[in-house]
Amino acid sequence: MVATSVKLFRLLVLSYVMLCHGAEASHEHYHTLDKVEPTTVKPMHRTAYHFQPKKNWMNDPNAPMFYKGVYHLFYQFNPYGAVWGNIVWAHAVSMDLIRWIHLKPAIYPSAPFDINGCWSGSATILPDNTPVILYTGLNSLNQQVQNLALPLNLSDPFLVEWIKPVEHNPLMVPSQGLNASSFRDPTTAWLGKDGHWRVLVGSKRRKRGLALLYRSRDFKRWVRSRHVLHSAQQTGMWECPDFFPVAEGGVLKGLDGSAMGEEGVKHVLKVSLDDLKTEYYTLGHYVLEKDKYEPDKEFVDCGSGLRFDYGKFYASKTFYEGGKGRRILWGWINESDSVHDDVKKGWSGVQGIPRSVWLDKTGRQLVQWPVAELETLRGERVDIIQRKLNSGSIVEVPGVKATQVDVEVTFDLKSNPMNQENVEILEEKWFNSPQLACSEMGTSMRSGIGPFGLLVLASKNLEEHTAVFFRVFKSPSRNKTMVLMCSDQRRSSLGKELDKTPYGGFVDVDLADGKIFLRTLVDHSIVESFGGGGRTCITARVYPELAIGEDAHLYAFNYGSVAINISKISAWNMGSAV
Ligand code: FRU
Repeated sequence: MVATSVKLFRLLVLSYVMLCHGAEASHEHYHTLDKVEPTTVKPMHRTAYHFQPKKNWMNDPNAPMFYKGVYHLFYQFNPYGAVWGNIVWAHAVSMDLIRWIHLKPAIYPSAPFDINGCWSGSATILPDNTPVILYTGLNSLNQQVQNLALPLNLSDPFLVEWIKPVEHNPLMVPSQGLNASSFRDPTTAWLGKDGHWRVLVGSKRRKRGLALLYRSRDFKRWVRSRHVLHSAQQTGMWECPDFFPVAEGGVLKGLDGSAMGEEGVKHVLKVSLDDLKTEYYTLGHYVLEKDKYEPDKEFVDCGSGLRFDYGKFYASKTFYEGGKGRRILWGWINESDSVHDDVKKGWSGVQGIPRSVWLDKTGRQLVQWPVAELETLRGERVDIIQRKLNSGSIVEVPGVKATQVDVEVTFDLKSNPMNQENVEILEEKWFNSPQLACSEMGTSMRSGIGPFGLLVLASKNLEEHTAVFFRVFKSPSRNKTMVLMCSDQRRSSLGKELDKTPYGGFVDVDLADGKIFLRTLVDHSIVESFGGGGRTCITARVYPELAIGEDAHLYAFNYGSVAINISKISAWNMGSAV
């Protein structure tokens, strides 16, 4: 899709106005382009440490798992071109989640139950230690059905070959009033205390998004429950649902899917809204007696609800890694350029850095942080300690490879903003529209505290830069400070046919000590930011023309009217994982 930033901005406003009444949309299918084999793969803007296939189109992460010491990532892939189509499950393995070996596709159309495509799904490791994949097949009638795949040889450490037992497949078909083109993306299954497996499948009935619930005793015969696990009106098709438990108390600990109904456990339901191409999650309770999920009343399934990432991040999926006791989140980051650019580049789509995910100690939201293994790529380090940033000032972080860098910065507002006079009052209209607030205020509108933050992938004279920044407001009606985090791509490139929509979210941090922490991963065309220690994440795709190679710079800035301090900046040049 070719769209100027203006067009996209209008579209965005429109989607917000329609708020969950979105227009029908799905993957665009460009039949004339989906088999255009790339003759070359253009290296410019390819990432160095984010996961990417060597060429062609990639979308959703599928069935991530850790099995016998090896991480597996499958993903939606077009073997013939750089646009969506001809979808198979490509497969890669890794020992550390960062460096990957690409294998041949694991699941591809070959039987009547998946002859028109092998779409998204998940892995479950059974109690006898067999990994099983459930995935959506497009059958010979182009109906969506759910299938099972098993490794051919469990002693192969990489599980290269997968079989699709014909005696069991398809496991689930769109019977009894289900819409055959809105029935997809099975979750990881979980085992109830009654010995029955459960799995969710995304669907919709008219405009109501549905998480259908299926049960099975033997993982082969599945029966649909008369009620859904959860649904929400006016949200449209729920793609790639993910349902998992988290531990209360702010512990960096993941839980296995079967932890339920226990003291100190909450549940998360995430859905990817096909109409808006945006994901939302809620926190709530799994009510065992009813086999239903009930979000706590303060959480909503769309609109002003919580998101893993307020930028580009879709079709995400978590898995639980028993050994390290953590839950890891993967998400697909698509391109911001045109389809024709993708065909010319010979590739499209990146995965975000895998993130550990846990429940914040406030219980109000999740926290995410890049897996610790990423730090093995950190090279030379540059530090700036205790630097005052006066109103209107910019400071360069010298000596870094600014196209491939991991930067952490602690801003110090010097005191609790609630006690400061010149903190602006947040206008009511911004409460439910942080993204609009970022786009209307940008970096040029000066507030009391902020905007301050980083300018990444910046050219020398700042003709090009991506700004990741904060503004601090007071809300007397809510008796609290509100921190707005933005990622503004509007100056990211001189290039024209790009989606440069600015993104934004509020950061729920305690500013009693006046400190705000930001980590940004810059990887050529990716700017992946974690604000407030991972409480608000924003990922952007940018394609600089000037700020490339040696000509890219990294700056910290403060355009607010009040001076602030940088307690510390640490920036690491990042090695390449490819
Ligand atoms: C999400 C999605 C899934 C589907 C897959 C097809 O991006 O539309 O619902 O299974 O992509 O590639």
